[in-house]
Amino acid sequence: MRKIILDVDTGTDDAIAIMCAIQSPRLEVVGICTVNGNRGITYTTENTCRLLEYLGREEIPVYKGCALPMVSTLPAWRRPEIPYGGKEFKAQEVHGDWLDLPPSKNKKPEAMDAVSWYIKTLSETKEKITLVPVGPLTNLAIALRAKPEIVENIEEIVIMGGAYAHGNITAAAEFNWWCDPEAAKIVMDCGAKITIVPLDATHKALVSGSEADEIEKGGTKACIAAADFIKRRIRGYAVFQPVGDDMTPVHDALAVLYLLDEGVCEDVHEMYVDVDCGHGASDGMSIVDVDHRYEDKAPNCRFAFSANREKFVKLLTEVLKAR
Ligand code: BDR
Ligand code: CA
Repeated sequence: MRKIILDVDTGTDDAIAIMCAIQSPRLEVVGICTVNGNRGITYTTENTCRLLEYLGREEIPVYKGCALPMVSTLPAWRRPEIPYGGKEFKAQEVHGDWLDLPPSKNKKPEAMDAVSWYIKTLSETKEKITLVPVGPLTNLAIALRAKPEIVENIEEIVIMGGAYAHGNITAAAEFNWWCDPEAAKIVMDCGAKITIVPLDATHKALVSGSEADEIEKGGTKACIAAADFIKRRIRGYAVFQPVGDDMTPVHDALAVLYLLDEGVCEDVHEMYVDVDCGHGASDGMSIVDVDHRYEDKAPNCRFAFSANREKFVKLLTEVLKAR
């Protein structure tokens, strides 16, 4: 079993990614770190806890992470503890403040914070661990700054974040990297083996409403919740970011499914990728050196420019009903 740590800002697609990891008999989820992102840290942490309780997997530890980016000043509506509340479009938004599951009764985050736990776990482990951060990279960047040697015990970092030819929060930037550009840059330059699953790939791995119906027929709690979240995402994308009739990307799930079958991502190339931290119009933008202009920079990641939609939907449907 491959040991993994998830780092999430749960979120409907984070929730589906968590379920894919938990349901797979080939992955062992050592722990889940939470971070500010889709919502403030209170929301993303409770959403993660309520999902684990719903699935009956309370034994998986949750570590509450950073409530703010390292440096960036987020606009007011993206700051912690200020949800979208009160805005007209709330009901159609792709995540909602709280995941549409019962509030957690027993499952709570551990006493240790996410950064301290990363440092402790990656210092003490006898076996290398794969990290799958699918939210802003704040927790991991701070851990790497505090104790750079932990990189030795990282097997691979599979990141959902960044984009070559897309922007989903500004015209230039992908949301996770825009939330904390300095953190993304620190992680990109840390020297670990890194695979980037960017918007270019996730926007190829779209799921339809009828495919969500098929997923629901799988009958597990994970299948039922995932189908519901996909349908919510389809409604939200239709309003805010149309991607095709009755379709949605499920970004974070693609990063987890890549661990099960690398073939879900396509057009994967070794690349040097930088992050704009200039705090201007292109803040958080991925600078992807497709034409090898940085002669002095060796590739720092494998970057997936595309994905195989059929494989993605098949794998998603199979893993959610696996146990
Ligand atoms: C990323 O941003 C978040 O809203 C999603 O959960 C995903 O991780 C996509 O840009
Ligand atoms: Ca996310």
